[in-house]
Amino acid sequence: MQILLKLSSPAEIETECLAVVALDHGEKDKNVARVAGDDKAVADAAAGLISSGEVTGKIFETVMLHAPRGVKAKRLLIIGGGKAKNFSPYELRKAAGTAVRFLKPKGIRKLAFLAPSGSPGLDGAGSALKAVVEGALVGDFDPDTYKSDRKDQSMHELTVIAGGGNQPELDRSLQEGRIIGESQNFTRELVNEPGNRMTPTTLAARARRMCEEINSPHLKCEILDADAIKQLKMGAFWSVAQGSDEPPALIVMRYSPPGAPVKPVLGLVGKGITFDTGGISIKPADGMEKMKYDMAGGAAMIGAMRAIALLQPKINVIGIVCATENMPSGKAQKPGDVQIAMSGKSIEIINTDAEGRLVLADGLFYARQLGCTHLIDAATLTGACVVALGNVNAGAFANNDDLYERFSKALQRSGEKMWRLPLDGEYQELIRSGIADIVNSGGRWGGAVTAAMFLKEFVDETPWIHLDIAGVAWMEENKSWIAKGPSGVPVRSLVEFVRGFETKYEDGSRK
Ligand code: BES
Ligand code: MN
Ligand code: ZN
Repeated sequence: MQILLKLSSPAEIETECLAVVALDHGEKDKNVARVAGDDKAVADAAAGLISSGEVTGKIFETVMLHAPRGVKAKRLLIIGGGKAKNFSPYELRKAAGTAVRFLKPKGIRKLAFLAPSGSPGLDGAGSALKAVVEGALVGDFDPDTYKSDRKDQSMHELTVIAGGGNQPELDRSLQEGRIIGESQNFTRELVNEPGNRMTPTTLAARARRMCEEINSPHLKCEILDADAIKQLKMGAFWSVAQGSDEPPALIVMRYSPPGAPVKPVLGLVGKGITFDTGGISIKPADGMEKMKYDMAGGAAMIGAMRAIALLQPKINVIGIVCATENMPSGKAQKPGDVQIAMSGKSIEIINTDAEGRLVLADGLFYARQLGCTHLIDAATLTGACVVALGNVNAGAFANNDDLYERFSKALQRSGEKMWRLPLDGEYQELIRSGIADIVNSGGRWGGAVTAAMFLKEFVDETPWIHLDIAGVAWMEENKSWIAKGPSGVPVRSLVEFVRGFETKYEDGSRK
């Protein structure tokens, strides 16, 4: 999708469709809809629809008008943005996605979107612009890759009409939005691939290709094979990999820009189970096909590294993905087996389906060995997290309040929803073992917490955040702004988190 910036008046733009947001300024149940952006010509063109009550401003409502009077666009699309006082980049992003998804099936390939600024929740034209670009790119993605009658329905051109601000700053916001949105979609492409077409070897090759295509001298990719994994004594990672005929891969992406301070070194560690059968503790057949998404955390790290290398923050970042299948076989590990992790901790395997924490244990420890001073991991780790938070919020854990504070600012900028869950010491007894240091499954209660407690054993004092994305990495149904399928969460939050470490963002603001 080509993305252009215009500062001219929306009424003057010749386009297939001009999309604008209508906000509801009414109190409580009363609707008082008004087009955002304060443009007289656009407001006049929409006046009839608003006075008739057809346009209410209700969130994601879509009303299209042909041959609107007084504007040069062939169509005017009015998208509801909800209550004006609540309107923020979060709603704007989705409104832009809604516009794209509404127009795509109608054969409309060019769109101009009026990015409103000056609304209470929008902090400047730049952040509105970035939200529109991100949202439009997210809306443009469809997962129907293998349909033989797949029609290319993608949007060809988006013109964003900015409501103010200076050109260089707006250009930068547009580029940022494009890099972040495209990186999120890159992650979604990886997650969308089925297990037979996305083995650990393929995932590693895609990571390597991404690093080459970025063509930055500051981004390096290294792939460690089964022998290297064994040599590093990654007994927890290998215990999962040993059961599969597909060789595992440890993907290490290093971003080291010139001028970056020696510290911090951020470690981004992702779970890359390219298919999770459960192993010997095999999963039920029903719904197992979804377990191709069990590499979503790893794919998010690859997408985030792409965005980071393109945005070029002056911060050292290392991305690590532990990629393997989890299969039952004659070579597979068995419940009761004891494994020694790279850290030296012994683990009694209670359930071979609790494999994500095993690969992450060694991935996190390895990140520390490589010199990471701060860690963040993402994993489709537990069904329990889905039970707790559903498909709305990811579970977030932290062993350090300051780091979590920083991360929550990144969440505000990314518009991704996460909810902090506890890591009290009391939970530790649930992962005690009779024969080894710890067990790999704490049982039924507090499953998301005990999984996080397990990971905590391997990060020690290093400030660390763990994201359980089992409930949010996959959209269970189509939404007006995003297709059913891989969501690309938490790419945007990871990128904003890393950027937040740049001194110029130290106060958490965008300027
Ligand atoms: N990849 C799954 C997590 C998962 C399960 C995501 C169901 C979405 C739906 C993970 O490897 C897993 O199997 N976790 C087990 C852990 C249990 C055995 C302690 C789970 O959540 O059931
Ligand atoms: Mn599992
Ligand atoms: Zn899994």
